[in-house]
Amino acid sequence: MTQEVRGVVAPGRNEPVRVARVLVPDPGPGEAVVRVLACGVCHTDLHYREGGITDDFPFLLGHEAAGTVDAVGPGVTEVAPGDFVILNWRAVCGRCRACRRGRPWYCFDTHNARQRMTLAEDGTELTPALGIGAFAEKTLVAAGQCTRVDGAVSPAVAGLLGCGVMAGIGAAINTGGVGRGDSVAVIGCGGVGSAAVLGSRLAGAARIVAVDIDDRKLAAASRLGATHTVNSREQDPVEAIRELTGGFGADVVIEAVGRPETYRQAFYARDLAGTVVLVGVPTPEMTIELPLLDVFGRGGALKSSWYGDCLPSRDFPMLVDLHLQGRLDLDAFVSETIALDEVESAFGRMGTGEVLRSVVVL
Ligand code: APR
Ligand code: ZN
Ligand code: ZN
Repeated sequence: MTQEVRGVVAPGRNEPVRVARVLVPDPGPGEAVVRVLACGVCHTDLHYREGGITDDFPFLLGHEAAGTVDAVGPGVTEVAPGDFVILNWRAVCGRCRACRRGRPWYCFDTHNARQRMTLAEDGTELTPALGIGAFAEKTLVAAGQCTRVDGAVSPAVAGLLGCGVMAGIGAAINTGGVGRGDSVAVIGCGGVGSAAVLGSRLAGAARIVAVDIDDRKLAAASRLGATHTVNSREQDPVEAIRELTGGFGADVVIEAVGRPETYRQAFYARDLAGTVVLVGVPTPEMTIELPLLDVFGRGGALKSSWYGDCLPSRDFPMLVDLHLQGRLDLDAFVSETIALDEVESAFGRMGTGEVLRSVVVL
């Protein structure tokens, strides 16, 4: 039976979002309807509403979410009604070449739910952000997008693992392969970079240098485990990172801004045979020029990290458990909890330096 719920819809390019009535159909084969309990506000939602991702308006926004399974369609065995789950962007196939090589985020054959949620007022089909659409009381996803985790965790914290926080932690522990005793530099300490600081600490890094242009972000990074901070408005970050690592550069440098100058800094701040991890998302026109001798001569690796190279079934339950044991401070990421009708104002608070994440709690 189709259900009517409230959801946050981006009606058109650069138009403010609004709360609308949304129709959620019964789950079909392989699908699940999830009652959303919390969903974080991410830059990607803002990019959708600005028309920066696709033109498939109207969008049902929200994609950093946790909730309980409400109903499952025929053939679903992974989850059952009542399960507490974190949602992820894509249900990967597990069988293609990318999946079999342990790189599921490059899966060729993902099975997300068909976009069958509509606006109640006129029946227009909605495009769910990142195949999720979770600024809504309920949403329809593929069952493979649901990962069951310990329900003792707060939904607001759990939801954040579905996107930005996982991207940052995973950039350090999965893509960067940070190990015990390593030195790490994180350039850009917003939501993603701060999570990379946390991931580096979890992995046992000895030195973690946080770089930002905003002292409030640097103070927050220190609380999460950065051992040194550099304000790159005041100091050349490449020189400062070298100085703080015995003149060498960091074993792993994580770029979490997404600008040509910070990509370049990351590249030159790494030690010989060090690893650079690009997490910041570039725009199509961005380029940087690097002398090949600098690439060759310094050795090491230049990597990009998509969704923290995470495997949701492996990483979400592990990180929730660490958090519940008091070994991973994820509470610091929830700056404020808000209602569905406050998403537009939360977009305005992004980039003010005050907020790591606003989280809609339902
Ligand atoms: N040098 C250092 N830090 C900078 C610079 C700079 N030149 N310019 C901006 N910053 C800092 C900001 O002060 C902010 O703390 O980078 C941080 C960016 O953080 P957010 O705006 O919160 O963005 P976040 O959600 O963390 O995402 C960062 O990763 O996943 C991608 O698309 C995302 O490209 C974006 C990046
Ligand atoms: Zn996101
Ligand atoms: Zn696959």
